[in-house]
Amino acid sequence: MAISFTPLHPLFAAEVSGIDIAAPLTPEDAAAIDAGMDQYAVLVFRRAVPLSTDAQVAFSRGLGPLEDVAYTAIKAGKEARLADPHVSDISNLGADSALLERDNRRRLFMLGNRLWHSDSSYKATPAKYSLLSAHVVPPQGGDTEFADMRAAWDALPDWEKDQARHLVCRHSRLFSKGTLGFDFTEAEKTAFAPVPQRLVRRHPGSGRLSLFLSSHIGAIDGMSKPEALMLLRDLTEHATQRGFVYAHRWRVGDLVMWDNRCTMHRGRNYDDARYPRDLRRTTLTDAAPTLEQAA
Ligand code: OGA
Ligand code: MN
Repeated sequence: MAISFTPLHPLFAAEVSGIDIAAPLTPEDAAAIDAGMDQYAVLVFRRAVPLSTDAQVAFSRGLGPLEDVAYTAIKAGKEARLADPHVSDISNLGADSALLERDNRRRLFMLGNRLWHSDSSYKATPAKYSLLSAHVVPPQGGDTEFADMRAAWDALPDWEKDQARHLVCRHSRLFSKGTLGFDFTEAEKTAFAPVPQRLVRRHPGSGRLSLFLSSHIGAIDGMSKPEALMLLRDLTEHATQRGFVYAHRWRVGDLVMWDNRCTMHRGRNYDDARYPRDLRRTTLTDAAPTLEQAA
């Protein structure tokens, strides 16, 4: 059966059928998935049962190199619940699988996922695709929203495109989690040094331009802080209008893959003191820092 895509939104995001993602990935299927990603930027694979973490890692590797995990090793006192270092634990559970306490440092750190962002935009070479699978979902809330940053770019008036086109932003988790008032250790302050990224980048697979926004941005080169932060607020408000957003309501077994080069995403509120939410992420690395990519 051939892979097919059913759109989930007028602009982007599609559900995929005709592929068993638990089976070894053929080069033809990998190429078809890349083509679907280039067009839709968010792909949803629905399964009756969640993919095992080993199978998720294998499927992800079939699409390209995974992120270097050493970089993310400095975490907020994270006891590993999931053994594989290539799997990010996007849950509200501790190593003992119990709900994290309200003041747990990892829980507070993870609240940053509810700000609009692009994964690992704070790394010199940011993320390409992220793949998130649902093992346990809460009865209400906890959706993940995605914003189409190519459509957002296209919809900007020319004078605003000109204002943004050549800007370089500084990204760090100090900025994103800092806006929530999170306290960092001295080691984290050193490790989370800001990195430069283009504000407008060309998406190679589609040739389209895209806004590369993220809550990790805290400065724009050559601009005063108030001017930079105001411009970022304006652009983010524009880019996350409801018309540019697909909201994913999770079902157990779903695997959602998104292209961090041309989308932003955020988790939504849920009652995490009462209900477990167990999502697991694998992440592909991009080829180079955005400043080294063709504009
Ligand atoms: C992520 C993320 C949001 C969510 O996994 O990268 O931002 O809804 N998740 O959990
Ligand atoms: Mn994320």
